[in-house]
Amino acid sequence: MNILTVLRERFAVALSEIVDEPASYANMVFPSQNTQFGDFQANCAMPLGKKLGKQPREIAALIIEKLSVDDFCETPDVAGPGFINLKLKTNYLEQQLQNSLQDERLGVAESKTAQKTIIDFSSPNVAKPMHVGHLRSTVIGDALARILKFLGHDVVTDNHIGDWGTQFGMILYGYKNFLDEAAYQKNLVGELSRLYRLVSQLCDYHSTSAQLEKLQQNVETAGQALSKAETAANPEDKKQKKAIKKLRSTLAGSRETLASAQKKIEAIQNQPELLELVNEHPQIVKLTREETAKLHAGDEENIKLWNDFLPACNDAMEVVYKRLGIHFDLILGESYYQPMLGDVVDDLKKKGLASESQGAICVFVEGNKAPFIIQKQDGAFTYATTDLATIQYRVDELKADTILYVVDKRQSEHFQLLFDVSKLWGYDQAEMQHVSFGTVMGKDNKPFKTRAGDTIGLESLLDESITRARKIVDVNDDRKPNGTELDEQQRQRIAEIIGLGGIKYADLHHNRESDYVFDWDKMLSMTGDTATYMQYAFARICGIFRKAGLSREEVQADTTAAISLQHDAERALGLQLLRFEEALANVAQEYRPNLLTNYLFETANAFSSFYEHCTVAKEEDPKIRMSRLKLCNLTARTMKQGLSLLGIDTSDRM
Ligand code: ARG
Repeated sequence: MNILTVLRERFAVALSEIVDEPASYANMVFPSQNTQFGDFQANCAMPLGKKLGKQPREIAALIIEKLSVDDFCETPDVAGPGFINLKLKTNYLEQQLQNSLQDERLGVAESKTAQKTIIDFSSPNVAKPMHVGHLRSTVIGDALARILKFLGHDVVTDNHIGDWGTQFGMILYGYKNFLDEAAYQKNLVGELSRLYRLVSQLCDYHSTSAQLEKLQQNVETAGQALSKAETAANPEDKKQKKAIKKLRSTLAGSRETLASAQKKIEAIQNQPELLELVNEHPQIVKLTREETAKLHAGDEENIKLWNDFLPACNDAMEVVYKRLGIHFDLILGESYYQPMLGDVVDDLKKKGLASESQGAICVFVEGNKAPFIIQKQDGAFTYATTDLATIQYRVDELKADTILYVVDKRQSEHFQLLFDVSKLWGYDQAEMQHVSFGTVMGKDNKPFKTRAGDTIGLESLLDESITRARKIVDVNDDRKPNGTELDEQQRQRIAEIIGLGGIKYADLHHNRESDYVFDWDKMLSMTGDTATYMQYAFARICGIFRKAGLSREEVQADTTAAISLQHDAERALGLQLLRFEEALANVAQEYRPNLLTNYLFETANAFSSFYEHCTVAKEEDPKIRMSRLKLCNLTARTMKQGLSLLGIDTSDRM
């Protein structure tokens, strides 16, 4: 039951007698910010007053006259300039809570317009271990999949792995030149990732050295431009001052680029073994590219090696997904679409959408400077071509209504072009959305790296989180006034729940578009907006039942007392619990899991306040006691369900 939607529908009916297009005005009903003014508030009388040339208060009175809500609301009143305040009848709340309690789905209705929704998420480039950069897509995509599924949509999760890219050229070259056979036999993925790192270091050295002269020149040119401007400038002229400031920052930028290039080169020069390899492989950049090209052209040896590598890479990825509780319905990597790419280009040409430009085949989209390159000069297809074939497959074969791409926001231009081109191509029936997100930062406000500057492996991150969580579990259990409650196995299991939940929640509770700083202490804190706080709140509620000597199932089955809301804090908690569907609908509307974390945090706070003001286990009136236990049970179930929709586990005892 989504009370907000019901209210908006009622407003739409009333408003249709007042204005031609009532929908946007009806949507101006919101939950009240301040409970003093009731539970919901409608703000539409102000803009309507303006539109109709009448006093907003007069319009508000007119709306109320036409509005039929007395089956579940008290008589509405008008406040201030023309706000309409709405308060739900308490017996209605009680009835709805009773319904939720009886319902496995906690009163959340399934969508009447179920959509076939493909969610493309995680999608790492394989053959290198997963790192912290893969966290956001994986966690956000999984949460969205769970939530949309719960709302009744037909969700297909698809891991569009990068299994055909240039990293394979590096690995193939590494395999052919630097393989440690014993290491390969023992740990294939470990050895491949060593080879990848080695080859990319060597390539980096050569391409950086090749650029060095140019970078030096840039610094010189920028320096000259600055001194010229400085000598000529009139110190009073604002425009010139601004120009000089800009030149200064250009110079600083070029210096920084040069310095980091020099640092890279020095780092290798300081390692004699590496330097030797650098000198032995002067053509490595070109040769790795050729290995990729050979693979794409169907070279027998490279295809065989690729087939040897891939299963092990997928297995290694699966280990991480399993730990995180992530499931994919499909894992169709980029390689899957390779046989279709030629036809995609031909079709776009035939339809007059693609044309040649400087040797490459491009689609030009009006209003966009950059062309969408679908075949390079050397005949190679691109990331873009693959994504077009993928859309064709998802719409034609999978019958997608909606396709979501949970991908880093740095790819937003690609997706904008991709969607535009697909529409021109005729794939305009499916809704496509780039669900973009920002970067995970370290405390230095730069992308999160190890001290040595390497990206942080996802597995070691999970391990560390669990180790830290274990300390929290130990301290908590050791401190219990009546002695410890958990054995070794329980402690470890709870540490995993807290550790993994903490990482996921920290990611999900930020607005996905923002960058966020990875901070262990904040993430695992027992207070504030964290999974740990929520998980402990849940366990505490379970503890109330243990204290009362009743199981949650017994309370669930009880017929002696109905829910009755006596205290304000109790009513507030009840209303909050009835807003679960609204929270989920908001997530589905904007694909923002943080709207669910917000809801759960508010729910945990509403529960605290209720528990502070109302006695439960010790309540003497048996009916009130049972009613409150039911409310506790509904809170526990809502929190457990909500966290599980975020991919986060709970434990009855912590
Ligand atoms: N493998 C890509 C990367 O790591 C992400 C793929 C996202 N999905 C897509 N259909 N383009 O950047």
